[in-house]
Amino acid sequence: MPDHEEIVVRVARPEDADGIVALVNDRIGTEDGPEARITLDDPRFGPGGWTVAVDDDRIISVLGLFPALTRVGSITVQSAFIEFVATAREYEGRGLVRKQIELAHRISAERGDLIMWMVGIPYFYRQFGYEYAVPTPHTVDLTAPVGASTDLSFREASVDDIDAITALQGHMAASAVIVAEHDQLLWSWYIASPVYRVVIAEREGTPVGMMRIYDDDGDPLVFDVAAGDPATLLALATEAAGPDGTATVALRPGLEDFVANFGETDHDGYAYYVRVADPCALFKAVLPELNFRMADSGVEFEDGELLISLYRESITAQIRNGQLESVTSGGTVQAPVSQGGCGVPPDLVAHLILGPLGALELERRHADVLLGKRRALMDVLFPPQTVDVQSWVWP
Ligand SMILES: CC(C)(COP(=O)(O)OP(=O)(O)OC[C@H]1O[C@@H](n2cnc3c(N)ncnc32)[C@H](O)[C@@H]1OP(=O)(O)O)[C@@H](O)C(=O)NCCC(=O)NCCS
Repeated sequence: MPDHEEIVVRVARPEDADGIVALVNDRIGTEDGPEARITLDDPRFGPGGWTVAVDDDRIISVLGLFPALTRVGSITVQSAFIEFVATAREYEGRGLVRKQIELAHRISAERGDLIMWMVGIPYFYRQFGYEYAVPTPHTVDLTAPVGASTDLSFREASVDDIDAITALQGHMAASAVIVAEHDQLLWSWYIASPVYRVVIAEREGTPVGMMRIYDDDGDPLVFDVAAGDPATLLALATEAAGPDGTATVALRPGLEDFVANFGETDHDGYAYYVRVADPCALFKAVLPELNFRMADSGVEFEDGELLISLYRESITAQIRNGQLESVTSGGTVQAPVSQGGCGVPPDLVAHLILGPLGALELERRHADVLLGKRRALMDVLFPPQTVDVQSWVWP
């Protein structure tokens, strides 16, 4: 039985790198260890982006905390995501991941991350404040038509392509209101990774499309696709196709319409985890976007107060001349509707601000989402969203 008095949870140091890679190899997979190594060897990231639990000198639990951005309409907020979570078998169930997640959340809060995204094992992360707020995209199996031809050429991406990749991804992401996007750093890692192929499609030397391919035992999965039309999408899928001529393509917003005639789409019912640690801070950060939505609605909202009770705490904003201002956080409000306000439990805040359901549908589904007299305003502020999530691993 390990002696837990020796166990320390802390930010990783250079001497931890080999132990981190060994544990990721052992507990997550031999594909993942080399990817962990790439991040550890990158001077722009390095061991300081990881947390570890250490017993004497042995690395017994690890976690990687990576930078991201989230666009909420016209506003971009600093975000993060967690990957590579693992504990050595004989140390499981002792709270080592819990402690590292608490440390990662502290680091994230101190540097001003407002949203955390994660792909992870079922239920586990709900224990740490993550909501399944955004369903994963549908997929479609695309098979190359016989005799198909294209005027596109394909090549593996290099780090010199990162600006072009960012532009292509930005173009694609314009189809969604909520966008969780990779830091550019991540693209350099995917390009270096033995796990993925990042492929650029060019027409006469100009990048016009791209994709990231995971070769799932000969059944290629294609994601992070950027394509401006159905023909480009089909040509990318054909280029990625496995021995049977088929590739499974993840349909991010903007691609669904392209596949209307390409067969049945599929969904595995899973979702991305999202955590909003400080709802009032996020509300303040996205206030210009919320005010844009109010102005754009054409509805005249009278001066007054918008109270959103999260039950344990609350957010209040003043409505002046059809705009929200003076956002403040407050304490418990048990019966907000009787005060002219509304109530949203804290574990549905990510659903409300970032999810595809919107305030009205959340009220229909949840007994403690109560919009009261503010139903029309909440519908304007928090409509159903289209959401585009870039994640390291396919969920
Ligand atoms: C999943 C894993 C990371 C958990 O690590 P751990 O150090 O055992 O986790 P913790 O002890 O901190 O877990 C916190 C709590 O969740 C419980 N828990 C552990 N695994 C759980 C699971 N799969 N589902 C629900 N709860 C779980 C723990 O018992 C603990 O309970 P407590 O709050 O009563 O103490 C570890 O089992 C592992 O490395 N698995 C293989 C690799 C893997 O799948 N990684 C996930 C990639 S996203």
